[in-house]
Amino acid sequence: LSNVLGFIGKKQNSFLASDSAEDFLVVFKGNIENGEELKKWLAEEGLLTEGEATTTKLLVQTVKYYYKGKLEETIKDVLDKVQGIFTLGVFTKQEPGKVVAVTKDSSLVIGLGDENNFIASDIISLLPYTKKCMLINSKEVCVLTPEEIKVTTISGEIASKEIFDVSWNGADKGSYEHFMLKEIEEQPAGFRTNLSGRVVNNQVKFESLTLSSEIVNRWKKIFIVACGTSYHAGLIGKGVFESLLHIPVEVEIASEFSYRGPLINKDTLVIVISQSGETADTLAALREAKSKGASVLAITNVLTSTIGRESDYSVYIWSGPEIAIASTKAFTAMLLVEYLLALYIGQIKGTVGDTQAKEIIGALFALPDLAAKILNSTEQYEKIAQKYKEHTNAFFLGRGFDWPLSLEGALKLKETSYVHAEGYPAGEFKHGSLALVTDDTFIIALCVQKNTYEKTLANVKECRARGAKVLAIALEGDKEVTQYVDDVIYLPKVNNFIAPILTVIPLQLLAYNISKARGCNVDQPRNLVKSIVIE
Ligand code: F6R
Repeated sequence: LSNVLGFIGKKQNSFLASDSAEDFLVVFKGNIENGEELKKWLAEEGLLTEGEATTTKLLVQTVKYYYKGKLEETIKDVLDKVQGIFTLGVFTKQEPGKVVAVTKDSSLVIGLGDENNFIASDIISLLPYTKKCMLINSKEVCVLTPEEIKVTTISGEIASKEIFDVSWNGADKGSYEHFMLKEIEEQPAGFRTNLSGRVVNNQVKFESLTLSSEIVNRWKKIFIVACGTSYHAGLIGKGVFESLLHIPVEVEIASEFSYRGPLINKDTLVIVISQSGETADTLAALREAKSKGASVLAITNVLTSTIGRESDYSVYIWSGPEIAIASTKAFTAMLLVEYLLALYIGQIKGTVGDTQAKEIIGALFALPDLAAKILNSTEQYEKIAQKYKEHTNAFFLGRGFDWPLSLEGALKLKETSYVHAEGYPAGEFKHGSLALVTDDTFIIALCVQKNTYEKTLANVKECRARGAKVLAIALEGDKEVTQYVDDVIYLPKVNNFIAPILTVIPLQLLAYNISKARGCNVDQPRNLVKSIVIE
C-alpha cells in the first residue's frame, strides 16, 4: 500500500501510516501541537485502538473520521482540526489513483513526471525523479492523479500555478568519497558564481534585489536571525554590516527570537539566513518580524523556499544543492553574500565610499584563488586527524571575527565526529572554562585576526602551560606562533576584513578528516537531518 503514495520526503523526518484495515494512508512531515487533544477526542469517538497513538496514526484516524467520500473536502476539516506546522499527503482505497496533499505553514512541492506526479517537502528530494516543479502555498489543496494535478484554495477556487524547470544537476557525488568533501571543494567555484555579474565598475548589484535610498535610509537597526551554521554566518555579518553601514546590528538565534519581545518596528531590517529556506524556527521569526512591520530580507540557497517567498526581499547564495548534513559551502557563500549586501546597501546609503568599495571588492575577487590554494594543499589534514582523533574534548578559541568561526569549527567537529567541542571567545575562557583544561584537552586556536593576535596567543600560552595540545590556524609567514603550539595550519595571506571566508575552510577540513579517522558517518551524522521543519 505504501507504494501507492509517491511521497518523497526526507526519509528521516517524514512518516507514513495506515489504519488497521489499510483503507487510508497518510504521509506526514512536521509538528502537531494538539496531539494530546486529538488523542483524547479520537479515544472518545472510539477510533483509537491500542498502539495507534503515534502522530501519523492520529492523523490517519482524523482523516477517516472526517471522510465523507471526497478526500479534498476531508482535508479541509483536517486542517481545521489539527494545529501545528506540517505537510500531509493522503490516500484512500475508496478513491484509487488519487492523492491529496496540503501544507499548513510548511513546505510542499509537486513534481511533474512523465508517467507519475510526486509530492515532496523540498525540490532536492524530487530531482532524481523530475525537474519540473510547482510550489504550493500554505493551505492550498492539491489533488494529484498520474495524469492530472489540480490545485485549489481552501475555499475551492482554482489556484493559478507556475510550472518551472529546476536547473540544478541534483545530488551526484561524482568521484568523491563523501558529499562533505565535494562540497568543501566546490567553494572556489561557488565564490566565482556569487561574484559573477554582481559587480560592475565597483558597484555591487543583485539580480533579485533593487533597493532605493528611501528604503535603506529608513532602516535604523538590523536584526540577523538564523539557526546553527547560518546563525554563525549572522555573527560574522554583524561585524560586516556595522562596519560598512554604521547601523547597530543584533544577531539572534531564531528559536529565541520571539521570547524577549524583540524591539522591532517598520524602521528595522530583519535579515533571515537559511540555506534550506524551510527551517521552522527561522520561518517563525520571519513571520513575527513581518507582523511587527519590519522589512524582511532573506539570504537563502532556495529562493523558491517558504522563507524566500515570504520575505520582502531575497538574495540567493548560489550554492547548488548541499547534501551533506554538515553545512560547508553554504556557510562561506552566506558570508560572501553578506559582504556584497553590506557593500550594496552601503553604496546606496553613502556609508561606503569608492576607495573602500574598491579595496573590499578587490579582496573578494581574490577569494576563489586563495580558497583553491588552501584546497590544493590538504595532505597535512590526515596526519593531524590521526594525531588528535582520540581527544573527546576540544575547545576552539578565537577573538573578534575569529570567535564566530570558533563556534562554527566546534559545531562542525561535534556533528561530524561526535567529539564534545565548544567554541569560545578566547578572552572569556579564563573566566571559568580554563578549569577543564588538562593534558588531554585539544585546543584549536584561531590566530588569524591581526588586531587580536597577541591576546589570543596569550590565551594559548595559558592553555599549553596546563598541558593542552594546541593546533593553531594562522597566516602564512607567521613564525612566532610555532613557539607556542604543537601544530599549525597556515592560511594564505588575506585581507583581514574578509579573512573569515577563508579561515573556516581549514576548520571544515579538520572536522571532515577527524570524522573519517574516527570512522563516523561523515555525510549523515546520527540524529540529524538537513532541513529542520519543526520548532
Ligand atoms: C550545521 C547545519 C545546521 C543548519 C541549521 C539551519 O552544519 O547545517 O546547523 O545551519 O539547521 O539550517 P538552514 O540554514 O537551512 O536554516
